[in-house]
Amino acid sequence: MKILMAASEAVPFAKTGGLADAVSALSLAIAKLGNEVKVILPRYWRIDRAKLTQLEGEMGVKMGGLEEWCAVYKTVMPGSSKKNPVEVFFIDHEIFFGRDGIYANVFNEDYADNPRRFTFFSRAVFQFCNKTGWYPDVIHAHDWPTALVPVYLKYGLREGAFANTVSVLTIHNLGYQGIYHKDNFHYTGLGWNVFYEGGFEDWGMMNMLKAGIYSAGQLNTVSETYCGESMTQAHGFRLDGPLRYRNADYRGILNGIDSNVWNPAKDKLIPRPYSTGDMGGKAEAKAELQKRFGLTADPGIPVIGMVTRLSEQKGIGELFGPCYGSAFSICRDMNIQFVLIGTGETWCEREISGMSERLPNFRANVGYSEELCHLIEAGSDFFLMPSRYEPCGLNQMYSLVYGTLPIVRRTGGLVDTVQNYDEATGAGTGFMFDDLTPQAIYNTVGWAVWAYYNRPEHIKSMRLRGMKRDFSWDLSAGKYTEMYREARAIQ
Ligand code: ADP
Ligand code: GLC
Repeated sequence: MKILMAASEAVPFAKTGGLADAVSALSLAIAKLGNEVKVILPRYWRIDRAKLTQLEGEMGVKMGGLEEWCAVYKTVMPGSSKKNPVEVFFIDHEIFFGRDGIYANVFNEDYADNPRRFTFFSRAVFQFCNKTGWYPDVIHAHDWPTALVPVYLKYGLREGAFANTVSVLTIHNLGYQGIYHKDNFHYTGLGWNVFYEGGFEDWGMMNMLKAGIYSAGQLNTVSETYCGESMTQAHGFRLDGPLRYRNADYRGILNGIDSNVWNPAKDKLIPRPYSTGDMGGKAEAKAELQKRFGLTADPGIPVIGMVTRLSEQKGIGELFGPCYGSAFSICRDMNIQFVLIGTGETWCEREISGMSERLPNFRANVGYSEELCHLIEAGSDFFLMPSRYEPCGLNQMYSLVYGTLPIVRRTGGLVDTVQNYDEATGAGTGFMFDDLTPQAIYNTVGWAVWAYYNRPEHIKSMRLRGMKRDFSWDLSAGKYTEMYREARAIQ
């Protein structure tokens, strides 16, 4: 099959979270199965044009009554096979994408013209096909920024060369839907009837993800548990109704991890690679981690690590909320060290910087670093993810294969990837709790720390069990191609 992945992020070009990892690794895995895969992204300012090849000629994209002109660049996805490379194309429009951030400025404020930027990008996907004469069997859109791709296909563009093209939409995060004032609707160039019939209308506003859910040929989200949760009022972010309506075409497919990047046996970003047969490299990573974060160099103290966007989704209120968050008491009461790297909400960035100064065993790095992220995954004993909700979550899978035991809330993809510790038998791969409260986080971290000091043999066998888990993309890639086939069969 010919597959076009339309997304707003993909590693190594642009990333704010797991979406970027998932888009690239999935594209490579689907190509590995023999499909022809191309990826299309906006060319953000940070993606260096000098490293790309420009396609000849400019391209006009109809935006309502206007036409926006852009250039197209290309390169090959790193990690591609020589025989069947995944090509990556970039839509270059200086005014929309020539800025520092992907969705937001340095103050973490969303760009006011996001609806226009991503409407343009979704529309440009079709113009790109016309320009290159390459028409895919499936266009695979991801999250709200490309949710208009299925809408365009359903309302007007599914004709001529696109007559046999179908769409698939993957929901990575229901917390972000692209809800804007309906004044922005005219950028789509679609008739006002589509505003209602196409599912855009949302209490008088325009909801881009909702419209995508109404129009996509097939839909999925990134774990089975989250798929079920998303159709309930408690977790559906008001889209549980539309998702229940599409129930017959909606499924959960667990993300994988890219084993070329996230593999302790091959990792070049840690001091020395390691594996189940030789764990020496993990101890070295811990020593390096303690050194880099200015913590006491002591192999006997358990290190709790976190790598996260500092957003409500990740449970930061319960952990770091001034006066009530549990991280402070954890560091005060327990003989542990706590390291964190993350960026996001300003109050939280300030809070964790302050805690780093006040507490001897807490160190936060407010920033973004692939290298430190690998070091934390490898050098920590535990990895904390007290998520409010988690469609899949990649970090707990990275931790498992690095022999770092996840401490997680029982929600979404965390349920599908972590098994709770059983004190009686030593079974399990991590530590889980149900309620998102400071007390539950405190108790569960306490439980893990207790096991570390009192049941070292259980900790050791849990680590090895996690490291042997297979989270490769191969299995999920097969499920995606099955979904593509179904979308084509019922087009
Ligand atoms: P989400 O996409 O909701 O943020 P995931 O667990 O699926 O959650 O993916 C997060 C990804 O972003 C992981 O690859 C993680 O390592 C990376 N990440 C998040 N924050 C940082 C940071 N500050 N530095 C480096 N990597 C980060
Ligand atoms: C989203 C979700 C996360 C998921 C990632 C990749 O950002 O929050 O749980 O792992 O997308 O699918």
